[in-house]
Amino acid sequence: MVEQEQGMGIRVEAMAPEYQAQAAAWAERLGLPLADEAAGFAVQVGAEGLQVQQLGPQAPGPVRVDFVEGQAAHRRLFGGGSGQMIAKAVGIAQGVRPQVLDATAGLGKDAFVLASLGCQMTLIERQPLIAALLEDGLARGRGDGEVGPIVARMRLLVGNAIEQMRGWEGEPPQVIYLDPMFPHRDKSALVKKEMRVFRPLVGDDLDAPALLEAALALASHRVVVKRPRKAPIIDGPKPSHSLEGKSSRYDIYPKKALKA
Ligand SMILES: C[S@@+](CC[C@H](N)C(=O)[O-])C[C@H]1O[C@@H](n2cnc3c(N)ncnc32)[C@H](O)[C@@H]1O
Repeated sequence: MVEQEQGMGIRVEAMAPEYQAQAAAWAERLGLPLADEAAGFAVQVGAEGLQVQQLGPQAPGPVRVDFVEGQAAHRRLFGGGSGQMIAKAVGIAQGVRPQVLDATAGLGKDAFVLASLGCQMTLIERQPLIAALLEDGLARGRGDGEVGPIVARMRLLVGNAIEQMRGWEGEPPQVIYLDPMFPHRDKSALVKKEMRVFRPLVGDDLDAPALLEAALALASHRVVVKRPRKAPIIDGPKPSHSLEGKSSRYDIYPKKALKA
């Protein structure tokens, strides 16, 4: 589902007068108003780029994409490298760095991990505001000495991945990685501020079976689906096996062996 929830307004605002022109440009591009007293979310434009702030008394802090500092940087430096489960799931091994299409890019965290390990990544995101946050984070990353070469391996396409995969032209991706929003409501997901912003914007990705079908038709080597550990598989063909972590599981649909 891509529609925003009914009645949940989003406005764009400049965090200082010098960002008013940029805020106006984002408002136009995203088709959002610059003033809306009743809005539930604000897209804020400031010195640190673009961020989404939930409004109201119980609201958590802003959500933005930052590949240079914070969580992403920490995971890049200390996150376990090619031994991480996501790396194994997509088939990273000695001398193997597959080209990966991340068809549910979100805030780009998983794609950044794989790009850090050397994979060439294509990302697709259909929710325009999430895609804008991601584009902004990628642009800021490009200017950084260490992160610049990593984000140079990440190409973002905005749109519905199902259609884009069905109409794919050129060399197919070796691996397609899917992490659609799963419709569950556990407490840990609710307390995470990203999820509190994500859910109302993105909704539940109920068309995941069509996504899997299109991915299986396109990928040359394998499709990987990330799920919450206890969640059922996506309706459709069964994975050959799964890798299970603490909170997530990777279902693997092999087509052909990845070779060094
Ligand atoms: C759970 S999030 C992905 C999080 C991501 N793996 C990360 O590391 O940040 C799912 C995202 O996939 C996007 N999505 C779901 N179905 C899609 C589709 N058919 N085409 C493009 N994007 C899609 C949603 O809009 C949402 O932003």
